[in-house]
Amino acid sequence: MCGIIGISALPGSLPEPLGRVIRRCLERLEYRGYDSAGIAVVNGEALIVRKGKGKISELAVKLKFDLLDGVSGIGHTRWATHGKPSDSNAHPHLDCLEKIAVVHNGIISNYLELKQRLEAQGHTFRSETDTEVIAHLVEEYVRQGLDLLDAFRKAVCELDGTYAIAMISVLDPCKVYFARKTSPLIVGLCSGFNIVASDIPALLEYTSSVIVLHDGELGYITPTEVYIERDGVPVSWRDRVRTITWSLEMATKGGYPHFMLKEIHEQPLALTNTLTGLDLDTVRSVCRLLDRTDRVFITGAGTSYHAGLVGEYLLTELCGLDAHTFIASEYRKYMNIADENSVLIAISQSGETIDTLMAVRSLRKTGCKVIAISNVIDSTIPRESDHVVYTRAGPEIGVAATKTFTTQILTLTVIALELARMRERLSSTEYSKLLTSLKEIPRLVEQILRIHEIKAKVLARYIKDRQNMYYLGRGLGVPIAMEGALKLKEIAYIHAEAYPAGESKHGPIALVESGFPVVFVVLDDYYVDSTVSNIMEMRARDAYVITLCPVKYAQKLSRLSDFLFELPNIDYRLAPIPYIIPLQLLAYYTSVMRGLDPDKPRNLAKTVTVE
Ligand code: M6R
Repeated sequence: MCGIIGISALPGSLPEPLGRVIRRCLERLEYRGYDSAGIAVVNGEALIVRKGKGKISELAVKLKFDLLDGVSGIGHTRWATHGKPSDSNAHPHLDCLEKIAVVHNGIISNYLELKQRLEAQGHTFRSETDTEVIAHLVEEYVRQGLDLLDAFRKAVCELDGTYAIAMISVLDPCKVYFARKTSPLIVGLCSGFNIVASDIPALLEYTSSVIVLHDGELGYITPTEVYIERDGVPVSWRDRVRTITWSLEMATKGGYPHFMLKEIHEQPLALTNTLTGLDLDTVRSVCRLLDRTDRVFITGAGTSYHAGLVGEYLLTELCGLDAHTFIASEYRKYMNIADENSVLIAISQSGETIDTLMAVRSLRKTGCKVIAISNVIDSTIPRESDHVVYTRAGPEIGVAATKTFTTQILTLTVIALELARMRERLSSTEYSKLLTSLKEIPRLVEQILRIHEIKAKVLARYIKDRQNMYYLGRGLGVPIAMEGALKLKEIAYIHAEAYPAGESKHGPIALVESGFPVVFVVLDDYYVDSTVSNIMEMRARDAYVITLCPVKYAQKLSRLSDFLFELPNIDYRLAPIPYIIPLQLLAYYTSVMRGLDPDKPRNLAKTVTVE
């Protein structure tokens, strides 16, 4: 939520004027929020600020971001928490004398108390945001005689809550000050300039060398220097420099109209890279840990939670583990039953989702070991876990998770297969057969994309005018139904609910009337007959039945369906990955046909770093 950027540059070192570079970096962070945006630069004696409500592309034209120049600058793209989206609430925020400008991602939970104190000291506030207190606090300590670094440090010490902060000032023109607690922040090392940013895509055009800042660290960058401290003590960072392997092209649309469509199409490659790039030593240590455990908890939010549900099913069925998945923000009750004999698998593409992080921190306190599955190297959740298995999906910019979902499932499937073999619950023939089929999945996904994209487009014409929809499945079809419904809801704004198909007759069916779309995900032989009964019940109420099923059931189910996706015959335990693809495409095309921007759904942000 919210993307921040700060750049300190020697004159002539940037390929373009500072304002333009900051604007381009902000565009790559816009997936983190797009309620408002703004840039501030220090140019000579002046602090110049341009900001407003709206998307970066519109504001860049209106406010002429690209013409701004200077030696240091900061930028912000906002997902509103405190104060509605408006010009005055847009960041950067200033002190009274307009010498200090601050951008912030996170929530300052004690801002009201700080604001009251500062107002009593004579400070005047111009916004409803929590962020503005930071600028006034620093101003206050400078007024009391501290230099800028001491004032910044003292101000940061007073903040409760979460923050990634970048600050510039005419009092020290070349420096960009920064601080981090919980909200992500990285430093990009460049030649003649340095950058701080919320996330890697912002930097890819300029550098692949980054330092991931840790909680509690603060410091500053100049064009040639990086200073980091913790608890007032300088931190040596040289051995923390990481080389990012993501390319700039990965973070651009590459000819597709939207990131989401590009990312859907990248799945064959993302799956192949994840499978071939898995660190098998880590997978085996994870399996050994799971093998010794009494109980496995799995957690995540949104799409990652749905991947967790698939993982639960596989670990239970293939490995005989006592596994239970919970929504990350509901971690509290699990603190009572987790202990040193349990293991938590925390799934998060970004590695920064606060709900998942809180679950990790809380369960760890019980002695429970944590295995993270994440797409972002060195992000907070992996760093705070005992083991990490990385997916290799590449950067995912579209707010709707697609390729990270399928790579998370792939990773969980590999773990489940390895553990099942270790526990001798799969014979080596069965294991080899499943592994061979798993390796075939990228090709199957490619085939589904080729055959079913056009069908999804046709179906979207019908769906775009509906207001409600059900997604039903049984067994492993349930999380796929849930994920399909979430995709449609979040990018097409159509109310979509998912249920285990058997549950539909215990209430949900009351809403069904002529033409009501109901998607059935059929992927397991065991459930075909019972699902057919549910389809018949829906048909009897004139529902519009959409079925996803293996080719082998196509004949049987085509008679009962208004629309059919015939999908490859594959062992049902491996089916979740290929079976979600048509539902991702359906959501995408429905969104586009409704005139929406699937990459930037309203009220959402890619990485949710507030509770
Ligand atoms: O980065 P994470 O995987 O932790 O993110 C979790 C959710 O916020 C995320 O999956 C969200 O639900 C997506 N918008 C779904 O498409």
